[in-house]
Amino acid sequence: MSRSVLVSGGSRGIGLATAQRLQSQGHRVAVLSRKGDGAEGLLGIACDLRDPAAITAAVAQAAAAHGPVEVLVSNAGVSIDRLLLRLDDEELLEQVETNLLAAVRLTKAVAGGMARGRWGRLVYVGSVVAATGSAGQTAYATSKAGLVGLARSVARELASRNVTANVVTPGAIDTDMTAALPEARREAIAAAVPLARFGSAEEVAAVVAFLVGEEAAYVTGAVLPVDGGLGMGH
Ligand SMILES: NC(=O)c1ccc[n+]([C@@H]2O[C@H](COP(=O)([O-])OP(=O)(O)OC[C@H]3O[C@@H](n4cnc5c(N)ncnc54)[C@H](OP(=O)(O)O)[C@@H]3O)[C@@H](O)[C@H]2O)c1
Repeated sequence: MSRSVLVSGGSRGIGLATAQRLQSQGHRVAVLSRKGDGAEGLLGIACDLRDPAAITAAVAQAAAAHGPVEVLVSNAGVSIDRLLLRLDDEELLEQVETNLLAAVRLTKAVAGGMARGRWGRLVYVGSVVAATGSAGQTAYATSKAGLVGLARSVARELASRNVTANVVTPGAIDTDMTAALPEARREAIAAAVPLARFGSAEEVAAVVAFLVGEEAAYVTGAVLPVDGGLGMGH
């Protein structure tokens, strides 16, 4: 069945791979990014996720084109590596607003339609560091940990409407976000991963697609790692 899908941060990386996978399954997919880039077959919508009014407008635009949003993949994120003592307030705000507050606002904007339609899927892209902690990523890990509370609360609020809410927690994935790391740091990270390599955006997209599908109808409030074993035990 073709669904109306909205993916935040769908211009590249994990969001783009997820959007393309869901589009190839026959869904109608809109993607949000600051410039509004949309790869072939995707509806690109410009939306700075730090702006609440832009979020409301973007959800309305997606719904006008594809029908009320039935699947939200809240994926957009930024990471600014900086020890807490050196982190300035704007860097803190950028990460919390983009990674966490935008996810809450997007959820609020789509939840009514999902409840009315008696079907919905909310998938949040978190991070392994929310559970393990990470030096230099205090604000980032804090924002990602918040997604778990968000998902589990809306999982309870919307369960009677047949809406599920889950978090996928990637480990080290090959995208622009990790390409910026020095080679020695990338090697050290890969060495800490039991599967001894970075994952691909497509490997995360496959797990998101599972959660979106009918097969995952009885999965809600779950935190599903896609991390090569990096976060095992947390
Ligand atoms: N890569 C990893 O190793 C890794 C590990 C764990 C978790 N994650 C999480 O996975 C998600 C995707 O990461 P990625 O590696 O694919 O990152 P990426 O390649 O850097 O892509 C980030 C996406 O977020 C969008 N974005 C950022 N700020 C935005 C804003 N203010 N408004 C609208 N869109 C914004 C970007 O769009 P534009 O820049 O085009 O506007 C882009 O589409 C993130 O939440 C990240 O924290 C990644």
